[in-house]
Amino acid sequence: MITGWPCGVRSDTTCGDAAVAGIGNVSGMLATFVTSLSPDDPLSALQVGHRPSPVVPDGWARVRVKAASLNHHDLWSLRGIGLPADRLPMILGCDAAGIDEDGNEVVVHAVIGDPDYRGDETLDPKRSLLSERYQGALADEVVVPRRNLVPKPASLSWVEAACLPTAWLTAYRMLFTQSGLKPGDTVLVQGAGGGVATALIRLGSAAGMRVWVTSREQDKRERAIDLGAAQVFDSGARLPDRVEAVMETVGAATWTHSVRSLRPGGTIVISGATSGPNPAATELNRIFFLQLRVIGSTMGTREELGRLLRFCEITGVRPVIDCVLPLEEARDGFAKLEAGDVVGKVVFTRP
Ligand SMILES: NC(=O)c1ccc[n+]([C@@H]2O[C@H](COP(=O)([O-])OP(=O)(O)OC[C@H]3O[C@@H](n4cnc5c(N)ncnc54)[C@H](OP(=O)(O)O)[C@@H]3O)[C@@H](O)[C@H]2O)c1
Repeated sequence: MITGWPCGVRSDTTCGDAAVAGIGNVSGMLATFVTSLSPDDPLSALQVGHRPSPVVPDGWARVRVKAASLNHHDLWSLRGIGLPADRLPMILGCDAAGIDEDGNEVVVHAVIGDPDYRGDETLDPKRSLLSERYQGALADEVVVPRRNLVPKPASLSWVEAACLPTAWLTAYRMLFTQSGLKPGDTVLVQGAGGGVATALIRLGSAAGMRVWVTSREQDKRERAIDLGAAQVFDSGARLPDRVEAVMETVGAATWTHSVRSLRPGGTIVISGATSGPNPAATELNRIFFLQLRVIGSTMGTREELGRLLRFCEITGVRPVIDCVLPLEEARDGFAKLEAGDVVGKVVFTRP
């Protein structure tokens, strides 16, 4: 243990250890991080404490984080999914909004690609998300390639802006780039409470789509109506009609229902599998016989993030926020997400 770093944020917080030497100076900053993985009990791997302030490579920028939001990705990281042990210690977090060294208010695009790659950066074979190879955003400071900074519209608060780079960007690309949906079409969103699900409901309804939503819980179905859903259903319930497209992030638990809910020629856009990757029935016969399209989707480009920010400005749509906590209380936010006890985003703030 290196002594002398500010510590004692909470009784359960931890200072960094000698393994971080060389990452940066020892002035220290508050961060949530992981030093050893826990596939079965992710919260036991979570640390909230102090880490060295990051160094800034040429062409990169330091951002003083004002707000950072939590994603299911951070729970996967604690379990070691997408984060091998040889990359530890790792600061968690993909999403941040803050102030760069020139005083600009920025939103951080979390897809870190090869600087020589040209084209859609989500297709760059060398891409990673913040906190997979490079230290993440749930901290006082984050360092990213300068091209990953997108100007924050003044009309969005820090907390709102910090919700957009992962869950909301993913929802934007699923709906507006990948699905082929048009205003007036009917789209089924599987799950109501998640960060991506709430974004899909808000964005789809604002864009003139009829949004149908499933959820396991009555109170979340009621919240979905408040957010703009036209109709809500218990998970797996029979629908009154078949839909043009399904937005799928739940995976095994809802996949069969998703395939059976589509019109001939309809599209499933899938960006996650929270309940597992192996559904009981894959419905291959139905997929080819009804000529269904299954489209994978991951994150979004910097340009799409810029368009999402403008969409929010123009329409007045704002992210759905479950709770806002100081970063010192990050453990409470992680516990809420792990329990599935959220409607919208969990956001952490810094002074
Ligand atoms: N590919 C990408 O770029 C990308 C980007 C963002 C997220 N993702 C992935 O997408 C998934 C969702 O992310 P998130 O941040 O929105 O996570 P989250 O907040 O944990 O949301 C989980 C969602 O899944 C639903 N759900 C969970 N278990 C279920 C079950 N057994 N049956 C029915 N519904 C269930 C919940 O619905 P109810 O509680 O309402 O029932 C909720 O809407 C995660 O797997 C994440 O890794 C991928």
